[in-house]
Amino acid sequence: MSTIPSNTPPAPQSARMDVTVETATRLGQVLLFDLRPLSGPLPAWQAGAHVDLFLGDGLIRQYSLCGDPARQDRYRLAVLLEPDSRGGSKAVHAHVRPGARLAIGAPRNLFPLRPGTGPAMLVGGGIGVTPLIAMAHALHEQGRDFVLHYVARDPVFAPLLRRTPFADRVRVHDRSRAEAPRFDPSGALADHAGTAGLSVYVCGPSGLMEAVAHAAGAAGVPPEDIHREAFSAQPVAAGRTFEVLAARAGLRVTVGGDEPITTALARAGLRVPVSCEQGICGTCVVTLLEGEADHRDSYLTDDERADQIALCCSRARSPLLVVDL
Ligand code: FES
Repeated sequence: MSTIPSNTPPAPQSARMDVTVETATRLGQVLLFDLRPLSGPLPAWQAGAHVDLFLGDGLIRQYSLCGDPARQDRYRLAVLLEPDSRGGSKAVHAHVRPGARLAIGAPRNLFPLRPGTGPAMLVGGGIGVTPLIAMAHALHEQGRDFVLHYVARDPVFAPLLRRTPFADRVRVHDRSRAEAPRFDPSGALADHAGTAGLSVYVCGPSGLMEAVAHAAGAAGVPPEDIHREAFSAQPVAAGRTFEVLAARAGLRVTVGGDEPITTALARAGLRVPVSCEQGICGTCVVTLLEGEADHRDSYLTDDERADQIALCCSRARSPLLVVDL
C-alpha cells in the first residue's frame, strides 16, 4: 500500500474560506459565476491572480479571477467544461449553482501586471482570456493605454466584453468564421509601433503564446516586458531518465523519460500529495537537497527554486536529485 511518510512537510496550500455562489451563468461551455463571502471581507486581489477551488474528495483546482479587481466584495470565476476533464471542470459544472457553498483559497498571483504607465497589449486565447479581462479592468481604472485581443473559436465572452467600460479597446478574433482573418500578432503589434514602453501579456494555448512572444520579440519588445501564463497542464515532455533519492525514506527511484517524478515515487510506494498536477498549486513542492532541477512549474519564485522543487512536473538537469522526503 502507498503511504505518505508521517514526517512529510505539510503541503503549502492556501487557507480555506467559505463562500456562497451568488450568480451562475452558462456561456456556451463556460460557467461564469460570482462568489461572495459567508462572513467577513474577501482578501484584496490584483489582476492576474487565481484562487484554489476545493471541490471535495481532495479535488483542488486553480482558476483565474476574471472580474473587476476594484470589486472587492465578490470574486468572479469562469470555468470551461473540458471534454477530457480530470474531474475539476466537471465538478464545477455539476455543483456550482446559485446558493451553493464552496471553499476557496486566498488569491495568489503568478501573472501580475507590472507597475508602470506604459501601454499594454493583452492577448487571451479561449478561456485563457479570463486573467486578461481582470487586467483590462485594472488598466482602464489606471487610465493606461491598452488593447485586449480575444482570440477564440467560440468567443463566449464577447457580449460581456461589449458591456465593459473599455469595450472600445477590445478586439474579438472569432475563429469560428472561416472568412475571418486569422489573428496576426505582428499586425497587432504594428498598431503599437512607435509607442515606448509597451508590455505584452498573453495567456492561452501554447501555440498562441509562442506566436505572440516571438512576434513581440521581433518587434523589439524586451523579454522582461513579455509576460505569459500557461492555462492548462503542460504535458511532461519526453526526455532522458534520471534518478531521485528520497533521503528520509531511503528510497531511490529511476524516473522514466515521460513520467512525472511523483509517478515514479508512487510506483515505489512513496505517495506525494498532489492537487493540480500542473505546477500551479504548490501541493507537491518539497525541499531539494542536492542536484540541479529543471523547473517546469509556475508556482515557485526564482529564489524558492534555489532549494525547492515541484515534483509533479519538474525534471532534472543532473543525473540525480536528492529530495527531503
Ligand atoms: S500538484 Fe500542484 S504544483 Fe504539483
